[in-house]
Amino acid sequence: MAAAPLAPADVVALLDAPAGAYVHVPFCARICPFCPYDKVVPRPGQPEHYFAALRTEVGRYLDAGAGPFTSLYVGGGTPTLFPELLGGVVELLPTTGERAIEVLPTHGTPSRLDALAAMGFTAVSVGAQSFSDDVLHHLRRPHDAAAARAAVVAAVGRFALVDVDLIVDVEFDDAHAGAFLRDLTSCLELGVDQVSTYPLMRFGYTPFGRAGHDRRREHEVLAEATRIAAAHGYERRSVWTFNRRESATYTSITRRRFLGFGASSASFLGRDHLLNQFGVETYIGAVEAGRLPVARHLHLGTLGGLAYDAFWQAYAGRIRPSELAAAYGHWTAAVRALLPPLAAAGLVRRDDDGAWALTPRGFVAYHDLERWVTYHLIEPLWAEMLEEHAAEGGRATWATPSAARRTHIWQLVARALERDRTA
Ligand SMILES: C[S@@+](CC[C@H](N)C(=O)[O-])C[C@H]1O[C@@H](n2cnc3c(N)ncnc32)[C@H](O)[C@@H]1O
Ligand code: SF4
Repeated sequence: MAAAPLAPADVVALLDAPAGAYVHVPFCARICPFCPYDKVVPRPGQPEHYFAALRTEVGRYLDAGAGPFTSLYVGGGTPTLFPELLGGVVELLPTTGERAIEVLPTHGTPSRLDALAAMGFTAVSVGAQSFSDDVLHHLRRPHDAAAARAAVVAAVGRFALVDVDLIVDVEFDDAHAGAFLRDLTSCLELGVDQVSTYPLMRFGYTPFGRAGHDRRREHEVLAEATRIAAAHGYERRSVWTFNRRESATYTSITRRRFLGFGASSASFLGRDHLLNQFGVETYIGAVEAGRLPVARHLHLGTLGGLAYDAFWQAYAGRIRPSELAAAYGHWTAAVRALLPPLAAAGLVRRDDDGAWALTPRGFVAYHDLERWVTYHLIEPLWAEMLEEHAAEGGRATWATPSAARRTHIWQLVARALERDRTA
């Protein structure tokens, strides 16, 4: 039987601890063929409608008692495409901690960065991907190496925290004289606080299409990256990030609780996971009709919530049973029981403060696990959701959902945990 549709007050009641806010901007001026995220090239007038819907969605949650938020993260799409419209949403969100935004390098000019700082942003992630024109051409990025470097130089010193995103496609990299490790070194020499080094994921529904991974080379390249980072005084703070030792951490995914606003945004409430509509018009339509734009509701329960929470703690390199116990009580025994065998296998080691840190071998295993989760759970879910665009008249022409990986494991998870909210 279908459960009753969710109301904002239900979501707020399900949240078991203070949350960060995530805002999604699903617009890009041009589409990069490797990118799996939910976005369209906007049609005239669409951004104005979208941001008005965002303000309405945020307002409904605030009226229901949400906030203040422990942090704000604005991602996309390209969040820096319509800064004035975004400003009208950001000003609504009471935030006690950092405010972070993804910056497309061509938007990383001193004046635009100053405008972001004036809007209250304290952290930026510059989507450089590489400082090699060969790699940027391979990725069909809308900027060149000079723009990437200029944006990073302009960002450093303007914000409390500057992250740079790099992508490594190891096969292309091997054939093109190892640009990735040089890119990493450039970031370290430019003094950024954090470098995110993402192995290129090949989602079947993107124009880049599916491809296998050379796991051994990925492990070798990331191990070499870890050595280079350490030699420059940077530590591995998560599976794919390196930080200056004294710097804070910038992340979109390891906040323990978050409430998402906008098309395709996710919320994790402790025992429940929500996903908003992906279609931009579908999202706007739901908000205008007075409904929450939640498309999917997975009720993970206590054990599932614990597993989700512990999984993302592990991504950030440290599992903290005492924090998990505060949220999941005696169920935390399930995680505690796993840690000694993982330690015996050399994947984690116990720290003095009772946390369990991933070892270099643990990071390698997690890297493989994260890829598995991406292709077996995230890709099939997002492919289903991207079909909403076709129903709206096919604006997301870059996505071919039928070419995505459709896995049995995702079907089983969805069948076991999904709450139908169409009543
Ligand atoms: C929402 S995107 C980028 C924000 C901004 N629009 C830009 O392009 O600079 C966030 C980051 O995800 C990473 N990313 C995108 N597609 C990826 C893929 N297929 N595999 C791995 N990382 C990816 C990129 O490093 C990118 O900077
Ligand atoms: S990588 Fe960034 S600019 Fe390129 S399509 Fe994805 S969100 Fe848009």
